[in-house]
Amino acid sequence: MSIEQWTLVDQYIVDALVPPDAALDAALAASEAAGLPGINVSPNQGKLLHLLARLRGSSSILEVGTLGGYSSIWLARALKPGGKLVTLELSERHAQVARENLRRAGLAETVDVRVGSALELLPALAQEKRAPFDFVFIDADKQNVPSYFDWAVKLSASGSVIVVDNTVRRGAVADPSTTDANVKGVQGLHERLRNHRGIDATTIQTVGSKGYDGFTLAIVA
Ligand code: SAH
Ligand code: DHB
Ligand code: MG
Repeated sequence: MSIEQWTLVDQYIVDALVPPDAALDAALAASEAAGLPGINVSPNQGKLLHLLARLRGSSSILEVGTLGGYSSIWLARALKPGGKLVTLELSERHAQVARENLRRAGLAETVDVRVGSALELLPALAQEKRAPFDFVFIDADKQNVPSYFDWAVKLSASGSVIVVDNTVRRGAVADPSTTDANVKGVQGLHERLRNHRGIDATTIQTVGSKGYDGFTLAIVA
């Protein structure tokens, strides 16, 4: 089994289940043209995020790691009428591309793109008087995943859903002797979850056009 095989199957799935979409397609094209790395979620993963956020019945969504706003579009479209998405991005350049992509998708008023280090933006968000987030998607740098997860829990309520991307790292998550800071980050997440009362979670390994990785799905008690 190879990435070529997984990519063919992803293409089959997308052809059957993820119709072409002008705003999503334009977002990917503009992100590529601007030289952003192609580390957005795949179309079928984006649709999974959308379906999960809809299942939860989300009025407010938080995303950590915007890039060009591809996953933001999928998530924002899952919001109930009048709902809002806040998305955090370190790079001003990425945020500019995302804002333009979101505007083209008709989501400029729905999505609040905030620029800065998530470790600084999250405490600021916690100071604001706002309703808890119904759904949180964590997809920024991997070293800080345990901290992002702690903030996600603080900013959530009972029943909120938290999804963390890239938590398998080509299987390296199961390597106790790793020295890779990104892998240590996703191991730290699993240690948090191991010791956490009141969070029910699982991690699913995935293969596809983006290679071998996985995601963690958690519900706050
Ligand atoms: N969720 C996007 C992909 C995000 S890629 C999608 O699927 O479409 C990861 C993003 O996190 C990059 O744009 C990177 O600039 C951003 N990032 C990295 N470190 C960060 C930090 N400390 N705070 C906020 N964003 C960060
Ligand atoms: C990387 C980051 C991601 O969020 C992802 O889905 C794939 C790769 C990366 O930093 O390489
Ligand atoms: Mg990711």
